Amino acid sequence: MLDQQLESLAASTRDRILAAATSDQLEAVRVEVLGRKGTLAEISKGMGKLTPDERKRIGQLLNAAKTNLEAALESRQKQFADAALNARLEAEWIDVTLPAPGPRPGSLHPLTQIQQELEDLFTSMGVAVLDGPEVESEYNNFDALNIPPDHPARDMQDTFWLADGNVLRTHTSPVQVRGMAKLGPPLLMIAPGRVFRNEEVDASHEHTFYQLEGMMVGRDVSIATMLYFMKLLLRHIFGREVTVRLRPGFFPFVEPGFELDIQCLICGGPGCPVCKHSGWVELMPCGLVHPNVLRMGGIDPDEWSGFAFGLGLTRLVMMRYGIDDIRHLQSGDLRFLRQF
Ligand code: PHE
Repeated sequence: MLDQQLESLAASTRDRILAAATSDQLEAVRVEVLGRKGTLAEISKGMGKLTPDERKRIGQLLNAAKTNLEAALESRQKQFADAALNARLEAEWIDVTLPAPGPRPGSLHPLTQIQQELEDLFTSMGVAVLDGPEVESEYNNFDALNIPPDHPARDMQDTFWLADGNVLRTHTSPVQVRGMAKLGPPLLMIAPGRVFRNEEVDASHEHTFYQLEGMMVGRDVSIATMLYFMKLLLRHIFGREVTVRLRPGFFPFVEPGFELDIQCLICGGPGCPVCKHSGWVELMPCGLVHPNVLRMGGIDPDEWSGFAFGLGLTRLVMMRYGIDDIRHLQSGDLRFLRQF
């Protein structure tokens, strides 16, 4: 009786061990059959009723069955362990003979790129490239540019005043003043650089941005001369004709003064946050140099005339690359910078 029971238990258990798909399933079989309250333990309870001889014989069978099943369990368990190890080795395999990834090369900031490009263009045309300080005197930033003390451009909310009475220059126009003193007439100059305004920062306003000043003084400089330069500049920058419009604009240092707008290259006209939903972007205020400015620069306005423009370099970069938020430019975010 017990022989047969043992026999069939051993056979079915061996099958289940082979059929187990995971080591958890295997463990369940072990507990059920070989565990302290398992089937084998159950069977051995029946041995009390046997004669001593029978008990000895069955006892041996029982032990043999137990040893065999334990061995089968162990070898199946090892198969699982081996498979797991192989899977891990497979997953963690690295080719140590591959070359290491080198350091990423850096690149020029898009503003620097556009500035250098324009400097190259103008230099090739014989235009002087001038530099001026970012901390500027009140005189150069305002007075010499015909901006009287009560002009709104001097208002505290636009200008960063320093304790010593100097200012963080609010535009590159003070370099006009320096240029007239340094070069005298006739002159042809540009001055790219960083400027500062006490602005509320949003998608199209920054407290720190870049301009490129241009100035020409000669014997017969007119609005036609100015427009020739503007068009040349824009064609070079955008690589195609852009739609522009001229509006009258007031700046104390030019007369007449204009606003040169270009059609928004982000939305193409219908309106977006960058163009404040107007379809146009103010790109280049410009005009003929005011006689007072020439005079304060030591140039006789009866003999000489000139034009000046102030190109918004930052805005230009945004237009050119379709950047919809000015704050990206100074974010230092490598994900942004690596695109250029
Ligand atoms: N300096 C002026 C500004 O930043 C721009 C400008 C420059 C206007 C030259 C006319 C001529 O607002």
